[in-house]
Amino acid sequence: MSELAVLAQPGVLSNPTSHVEYLTFCLKADSDCADDIGDALGDLGGIEKSINQKDLDANLSVSIGFSAHAWPILFPTQPVPMELHTFPEMRNGDRLFPSTAGDIFVMIKSERMDLNFQAAKYIRGAFLEFAELTEDIQGYKYLDNRDMIDFVDGTENPKGDERTEAVLVNNDIELHQGGSYLHVQRYVDRQGLWDQQTTIYQEQVVGRTKMDNIELSDDVKPAWAHNAKSKVEIDGEEIKMLRQNRPYGNAMEHGTMFVGFAATPSVIETSMGQMITADENGHYDRLLDFVEAKTGCLFFMPSQAFLDQFDDE
Ligand code: HEM
Repeated sequence: MSELAVLAQPGVLSNPTSHVEYLTFCLKADSDCADDIGDALGDLGGIEKSINQKDLDANLSVSIGFSAHAWPILFPTQPVPMELHTFPEMRNGDRLFPSTAGDIFVMIKSERMDLNFQAAKYIRGAFLEFAELTEDIQGYKYLDNRDMIDFVDGTENPKGDERTEAVLVNNDIELHQGGSYLHVQRYVDRQGLWDQQTTIYQEQVVGRTKMDNIELSDDVKPAWAHNAKSKVEIDGEEIKMLRQNRPYGNAMEHGTMFVGFAATPSVIETSMGQMITADENGHYDRLLDFVEAKTGCLFFMPSQAFLDQFDDE
């Protein structure tokens, strides 16, 4: 493992697990956040350790991040990470990526939904004094890592050293080295409309075959395919991100949690800009005809070393 990878919160670099619970908190206006956060972060390590011990094979991990609004309130004496900002709303035609409230984001990953739930319950309790839980989404592995639009998701994610390089900050002050920027968007599927499309059209929209998950060749892949529009290139070189997406929901309402990590927020915001904006030929990412973004936030996931300063054990 590289020096930088050792610094990171383990859940930031690891693959998605079978179950994941995503908690979004908003700070309470009249609370003493800066005093309370230290104790709460101290408790977090204990909660993770206790619940993990119940089934070591379940591989429980808890990762945490903070918004640009929350950082100076929670950590007034620690410099704000260089590129942390509020997620900017994006709009083009009738497509919208909203910017929504969210100060603290917690991602609980494991192979067991029950362990995730228990961790979520205790974490909510640990934050209760100063932060309100405003969204709690339980995601899960669907078939062979598919989204509920039935295509395999995550294939082009970077691996090994390429992942570390794509995901972890290495150009900020020492305190923030090994941190990562995380964009979260909760999407709802327009499943009825999607199911009315032919498989051939769906494959063009995603840019891969449905059953076997093979990338369409350049001569048949449309300019408006999702994997064409979302790919970020600078001077012909592809700049990667790590997507830890998981579907969530039930037969009444379901969708994808887009959970994207990068060493700089500009990568994912460039990708989103390309997806939503119609080019001179009117081509935007056609996947956006079938999924609707309901939330949008940017967080900084500090290094494990940053969090360990609050460990009271
Ligand atoms: C409902 C939301 C979304 C769904 C269902 C979805 C699904 C998929 C699927 C099925 C693939 C192809 C397989 C793979 O390489 O993972 C893919 C690729 C990709 N997606 Fe998404 N995605 C969503 C949102 C986003 C967003 C918001 C971004 C960027 C901000 C994004 C960025 C990418 C990238 C970079 C690739 C790989 C492109 C390549 O190099 O081939 N996706 N996505």
